[in-house]
Amino acid sequence: MKVGIVGAGMVGSSAGFALVMRGVASEVVLVDHNPALALAQAEDIAHAMPFAQPTQVSSGDYEALAEADLIIIAAGVPQKPGESRLSLLGRNAEVFGDVLAQTGKVAPDAILLIASNPVDIMTEVALKLSGLPAARVFGSGTILDTARFRYLLGRHLNVAAQSVHAYVLGEHGDSEVLAWSSARSGCETLDDVADQLGRPISEAVRHEIDQNVRRAAYKIIEGKGATWYGIGAGLARIVQAIRDDQRAVLTVSARVPEIEGVRDVTLSLPRVVGRDGVAETLIPHLSYSEATALRASAEMLRETAAELA
Ligand code: LAC
Repeated sequence: MKVGIVGAGMVGSSAGFALVMRGVASEVVLVDHNPALALAQAEDIAHAMPFAQPTQVSSGDYEALAEADLIIIAAGVPQKPGESRLSLLGRNAEVFGDVLAQTGKVAPDAILLIASNPVDIMTEVALKLSGLPAARVFGSGTILDTARFRYLLGRHLNVAAQSVHAYVLGEHGDSEVLAWSSARSGCETLDDVADQLGRPISEAVRHEIDQNVRRAAYKIIEGKGATWYGIGAGLARIVQAIRDDQRAVLTVSARVPEIEGVRDVTLSLPRVVGRDGVAETLIPHLSYSEATALRASAEMLRETAAELA
């Protein structure tokens, strides 16, 4: 599977590194408006090869993306400390115009996997500009928030994060919804597992986990300027679901005809991801407060996207 990555900054290069370590792609090509950066990132990733899976790693101009099966778009400006993801919209929408014009020329049929923030709106922009079917244009969405939610729950319960089934829905951003009511571990509700393991989830623990998921990026950006490892690993996970036609259920951002009464909006829901991208959307059963919050998130995203039109 040939994977192109447009934007060789920390997110794009971490995705390339994760693809190589996970052995998900046969070829990875990095493209950046700064060719020297793309070349340096490609060479640095290639030096991991003896410790990783055989992958052809290179950099180049857009022509080098010819025949790509999938292109990760991580181009654009990242959040500054305290800056919201939504505030990047104007700058990154401008960048996308040129990027998608170029990728459309050299790899018109490639699946587009959007990572640039605000990822839900940028996915909507890519969908409109590319003219591709909605199944083939989607974003990393809340795959990272869901991972954070599972990691923090697993740490509290002292069980593997892979054994926690909990989802974050809606905007990859401040209005995201942690679906506590449907969270499970093993075949038990979280409270049952917590009681059995002697790790009760008090209101204080619940609030702490909720805030640590929502505020994770802001906190990390304060400390190191940006986030990249978690999102890089999440992008590689999505690519593996496509390469292996896994039909994995992942909370990625894609267009949905209607959710909680809001029509034609791009946001994260549990989706079946396989060789052709997003195969199905699974509509979650939520508590009243979660459904209300998801509606608010969807309404905000739809209004924000409409302002771009
Ligand atoms: C974060 C960035 C990827 O949540 O939006 O870390």
